[in-house]
Order: sequence, then C-alpha cells, then structure tokens
Amino acid sequence: MSDHDSSPLPEIDLSKPPAENMVRVTFEPEHKTVEFPFNSLPYDGHGQPMSFLDVAENYGIFLDHACGGVAACTTCHIFLKQGAEGVSEPEDLELDRLELSPGLQLNSRLGCQCVIEKPGTYVAEIPSWNKNYVQEGKPAAIKK
Ligand code: FES
Repeated sequence: MSDHDSSPLPEIDLSKPPAENMVRVTFEPEHKTVEFPFNSLPYDGHGQPMSFLDVAENYGIFLDHACGGVAACTTCHIFLKQGAEGVSEPEDLELDRLELSPGLQLNSRLGCQCVIEKPGTYVAEIPSWNKNYVQEGKPAAIKK
C-alpha cells in the first residue's frame, strides 16, 4: 500500500465511533480517513512504526518527509487535533526539531515521530504549507 497509488480509500461509517481495538485516523484538510486494527499495519520503513507518517505511507496519503522520517527536517509537521491522549510523548530530538518549524502550535508534532499507542480516533491536520503536496498527491517538481 505504500506506493502512493491512487486507489480509493475504503468507505468508513464516520457516524459511528471506531470499533474496539480499531484505530481511525483522519488527515485534514483533505478529510482522508483510514481505519485498521491496532498494531496491524506493516511497517513501511518511514518514521517510527505506527507514526502518522507510517500510517500515511501505508495508505498512499502524501505526507512530506524530506529526511526520510528521522527527525532531521520539519516537512512532516502536523497539528494533532484529536487523539493526544493516545500518542507517544515527544522526545527531546522531536522538540528540538519542532522549534525550528514554521507555524509552531501547542498541538504541533512531527508526523514521523508521533506514534499511535492506543486504539481510538485521531485527527491530524497537515499544515497549509504542505496543502498543495496533499492535493497533488505527490511532491511538486522543483524547478532548477
Ligand atoms: S520526515 Fe523529517 S522530521 Fe519527520
């Protein structure tokens, strides 16, 4: 599932909460929602296992990750709008990197380091400076 294909995401009944032991993640502003049993995703090799980047990669949702998911850039910056109680605490490396990120908010996290540790509902907003990437579904070409 990690090749950023354009196959549609499975339909999810958002009028009901996720079933027990399920993880539901919505990526805004595109409102792309995925759902899967907790601890069931194969590791995609980008960021921490079960990080938001790992989830996005598994479902072909573009979340920029210029450094490959090792907390060495800030391109995977997300705003965690729901689910803070179910994710890992940020390590010093993540906090140090986030300080360099534009648009820092109280709910800012690095998508490659913020790990989903419990079943539940999560909403991650990809900031507007990444919005074009998301709409395109791939990185914009860099002009030389
Ligand atoms: S991908 Fe570079 S810090 Fe997350």
